[in-house]
Amino acid sequence: MHIVITGGAGFLGRQLAKTLLDKTSLTATGDAPEVQRLTLFDVVSPQNIPSDSRVEIVTGDIREPQVLASLVTPDVDLIFHLAAVVSGEAEANFELGMQVNLAATQNLLEQCRQLNTRPRLVFTSSVAVFGGDMPAVLQDDTAPTPQSSYGTQKAIGELLINDYSRRGFIDGRAVRLPTIVVRPGRPNKATSTFASSIIREPLQGQPAVCPVSPEMALWIMSPRQAVKSLIHAAALPAEAWGSSRVASLPGLTVSVREMVDQLRVIAGQTVVDRIAWQPDPFIERIVGSWPIRFATPKAEALGFEADKSIDEIIRAFIEEELGGSFVT
Ligand SMILES: NC(=O)c1ccc[n+]([C@@H]2O[C@H](COP(=O)([O-])OP(=O)(O)OC[C@H]3O[C@@H](n4cnc5c(N)ncnc54)[C@H](O)[C@@H]3O)[C@@H](O)[C@H]2O)c1
Repeated sequence: MHIVITGGAGFLGRQLAKTLLDKTSLTATGDAPEVQRLTLFDVVSPQNIPSDSRVEIVTGDIREPQVLASLVTPDVDLIFHLAAVVSGEAEANFELGMQVNLAATQNLLEQCRQLNTRPRLVFTSSVAVFGGDMPAVLQDDTAPTPQSSYGTQKAIGELLINDYSRRGFIDGRAVRLPTIVVRPGRPNKATSTFASSIIREPLQGQPAVCPVSPEMALWIMSPRQAVKSLIHAAALPAEAWGSSRVASLPGLTVSVREMVDQLRVIAGQTVVDRIAWQPDPFIERIVGSWPIRFATPKAEALGFEADKSIDEIIRAFIEEELGGSFVT
């Protein structure tokens, strides 16, 4: 199978690539596809990708239609479309968000349509498609009401995936990912970046700033579970999706206080003391507009799973990213 990952140098793109290349990895699911060729496309070159003759690195800007034309060719079987400007950046730079998250997504779908090969495409949507006045628990049929430009771009992307699939131009699937915690590496421009920072930085002996109150809660998923979910979304048969190619993925509702309390249990008070509490109204407003509780019967019936606990998520981060130890 020839697989293309757009955003292949990003956090999830790299984790997904490593898992697809190593089907024996902990993250791989039984339904991971056989990779003959894996094209990692991004505006920057990916770091720390295992050297493998099946991997091809392509750098370019997804906003340029000619770049898409040379990337998405008739031999491409499966596309994971991850390239995006994240939430904080799409809110700060309206034009960039619209161009990358919306116009380029439509151009990519158009390129697929021109092929006449109906490639399979997995689109990474987000819980940011919801906001404002919402029920206490969101249901599979709750209408998207985004309160950010990023959420709006993702919601339109979902509709396009549905229509291009209905018309037979692609075999699309859109999964609404919860906020991914703990994200390794450095903070990024996602509004929710603090949710990883408050665990990741203190465990490495560094200070972290928490810009929201301890009561703020998030709907979260671990990187390992997110990659598993993307692979599972790609493997499901088209008929399984029914009349909508969109699913909200199962997650965990965890407050910032619960994250910090669990960090204290695992790593101790000295580690927790590295967190400074500095409320930021901009971040509180955006993150506070995101939903925190979902009923996800559709995704569960399709075989998607949630993480078991924040305890398991923090311990997995220490094992997988910090080599099993932290700075006390
Ligand atoms: N991480 C999360 O918590 C989360 C939650 C919900 C949805 N998502 C979605 O999942 C996907 C992957 O997220 P991530 O956390 O890996 O983000 P990321 O920022 O690490 O990766 C996105 C990649 O897209 C690339 N990109 C941006 N503009 C581009 C352009 N013009 N041309 C080519 N490439 C470009 C970036 O260079 C980056 O490597 C995104 O679509 C994101 O919206 C992520």
